[in-house]
Amino acid sequence: MDDIYGIGIESSCDETGIAIIKNGRQIVINPVFSQVEQHKIYGGVVPEMASRLHLEKFPQLLKEIMEKEAEALSKISYIAVTVKPGLVGSLLIGYHIALGLRSIFPVPVIPVNHLEAHFYASRLSGENPEYPFLGLLLSGGNSAIFRVSGPGKMKILGDTFDDACGEALDKAASMLGLNYPGGPEIEKKADLFNIKKTGEKIKNPLPKILAGQGRQEYNFSYSGLKTALYYWLQSHGKTETEYLAWCFQERAFEIVERNLKNALMNENIKTLVAAGGVMANGTLRKRLLALSEPLKVRFICPPANLCTDNGAMVGALGYVYFKEKIFPGIEKTVSSKVSFPGG
Ligand code: KG4
Repeated sequence: MDDIYGIGIESSCDETGIAIIKNGRQIVINPVFSQVEQHKIYGGVVPEMASRLHLEKFPQLLKEIMEKEAEALSKISYIAVTVKPGLVGSLLIGYHIALGLRSIFPVPVIPVNHLEAHFYASRLSGENPEYPFLGLLLSGGNSAIFRVSGPGKMKILGDTFDDACGEALDKAASMLGLNYPGGPEIEKKADLFNIKKTGEKIKNPLPKILAGQGRQEYNFSYSGLKTALYYWLQSHGKTETEYLAWCFQERAFEIVERNLKNALMNENIKTLVAAGGVMANGTLRKRLLALSEPLKVRFICPPANLCTDNGAMVGALGYVYFKEKIFPGIEKTVSSKVSFPGG
């Protein structure tokens, strides 16, 4: 059987990515330009700047894949592009790059839901999650749990009432005087604290999140935790950065574990796929593995470099749609929001 090559295009937020994927599982090339350095001084993503940078970077990335992988490019069978959810100005840039490529390569353009694509990154490291699986997405913009029962079939089981986990880590880091993006900075400080305090019982002055939430609910909330850190710093000062990073991370992840445990048991699902930038966190990966084992749940998480936004995951999901001959129309698909048809 002939190999199937496809393109994946990502521009929903602050990563510009375009990849060529072979047979839905093999990365031929996957250049990603992260705009983190440019947004850093503002402590978060500036939407208009993100759009302008996508516009500037896509031609450079296209040139790179054309020069390095001309043969694979000449054989493509589909173009997958993230169309939702995300920053509309940014999404429109990737969308038009896809339409431009279609005028050169007359192949189907497959509109992709960014959240769904995150779960298919795991296929690029040889995994093949069986349906239905529980999908955990923790990123700068989302904290949600889904029941995924097929391509395009995602039922949202739990969502955040306010901030996303990654956003909260970013803001906490900023309050602690750490760099953006804050998740990896908090992780480093928390690790240092952990090494020094191994075996000791640590008092955590920050509140447990949604402690009263019933076992049938799997929602998140991070704004109260941020406020608690703010007031703690007001009264105690910024003296114990490592300790506070540990306390914040601990509370931020506790609710993830609690929600997952309840959802896995209530839904009776035996595969957990976790993705999104926050899943690059080593402590969280270890803890979710430890949670899964006694429940006899298969825990799947892409390698850290594929947890953050990239074109390869879009191409990997596009392949699944292509193989199943699911070709939703591309016109007018770009949206900041996403609706889930159900699973
Ligand atoms: O999925 P992602 O790359 O894209 C957006 O949502 O834009 O996620 C970015 C988020 C940021 O909030 C960042 O702080 C967080 O992922 N992040 C981490 C780690 N690496 C990135 N959070 C915790 N630990 C990490 N090692």
